[in-house]
Amino acid sequence: MPTIIVTGGARGIGYGIAECFAQKGDNLVIADVNAESAEQAAAQLKAGGAPDAIGLECDITNREQVQAMVGRVLDRFGRIDVLVNNAGICPFVDVMEISTEVWQKTVDVNLTGAFICTQEVARHMVERSEKGERGGSIVFITSQSENFTNSMQGDYAASKAGLRMAMKAFATKLGPYGITCNAVAPGHVMTDMTKQHWGQPGPAEYIKTRVPVGRIGTPRDIGNACVFLASPQAEYISGISLHVDGGYQTMNP
Ligand code: NAI
Repeated sequence: MPTIIVTGGARGIGYGIAECFAQKGDNLVIADVNAESAEQAAAQLKAGGAPDAIGLECDITNREQVQAMVGRVLDRFGRIDVLVNNAGICPFVDVMEISTEVWQKTVDVNLTGAFICTQEVARHMVERSEKGERGGSIVFITSQSENFTNSMQGDYAASKAGLRMAMKAFATKLGPYGITCNAVAPGHVMTDMTKQHWGQPGPAEYIKTRVPVGRIGTPRDIGNACVFLASPQAEYISGISLHVDGGYQTMNP
C-alpha cells in the first residue's frame, strides 16, 4: 500500500492534503514540529478511515531529525511513495523592518527544510527505482508568492520563489529514476495561518470580488491537486507549478 509523508501535516493545508490521500486508501505519515498535534492528526485520519497513519515529531530544518523520521517510516511501512513538502511559515513583517533572524528562520523552514526532506526521501526513492520499482513523486507546496509579493512578505516570497527553483533542480536530477517533482502553488486558503485575516468582513469581500470562482480555497482543494500530481495519470508531468487559486492570477497578474 502506498505510503505518503506530509510535512507540517498536523493542521491546515497539510492536514487537508493528508485527508485526500487517506481517502484513496494510502498510509499516512504526519511529520510535524508539533508532536502532540501530529499524533492527534494521525489518530483523526485513522478514525476517518485511513488504512494506517502515524504522527512523528520532526523539525524539517534539522537533518538528523529528518533522517530519524525517514528511518522510522521505512521501519514501519517499508516504502515511501510520495513526499509532500508542505511545512511552512509566514511571519508577515515589513521587508525594511525584518530582522536577520526572522528572515533566516523563514528561509530555513520554507526552503532549506524542504531541500533536506527531499534529499533524504529521494535517496530511498532512487534505490527503489534501481530495483525496477516505481520511483515516486515529490510535491512542493509553494504559493502564489513564488511569482509576486508585497512589502510584508519579502522573506516568504523569496523562500517560495527559491523553493520553485529547487523543485526544478530536483525534477531534472530525479526524472531519470522515474521520480516526478512538481509544485502546487495555493492562492488564498483559509487555515490557522490565515484565518485572522480572511475571516474579517473586508478581506472576505475582497475574495468574492477578486477571485474569479468567488470563494476562498480549502485545504482539500490543494490536497486534490497533490493527489493528481502524485498519481500514475500524472507520470509525464514534472517540473511544473500548478496554481490552485480559483483563477486569481488571471485577474491579478
Ligand atoms: P499552518 O500554519 O496552518 O500549518 C503549518 C504546519 O507546519 C503546522 O502544523 C506547523 O506545526 C508545521 N511546521 C512549522 N514549522 C515546521 C518545521 N520546522 N518542521 C515541521 N513542521 C513545521 O499553515 P498552512 O496555512 O496550512 O500552510 C501550509 C503550507 O501552505 C505552507 O507552506 C504555506 O506557505 C503554504 N501556503 C498557504 C497559503 C494559505 O493561504 N494558507 C497560501 C499559499 C501557500
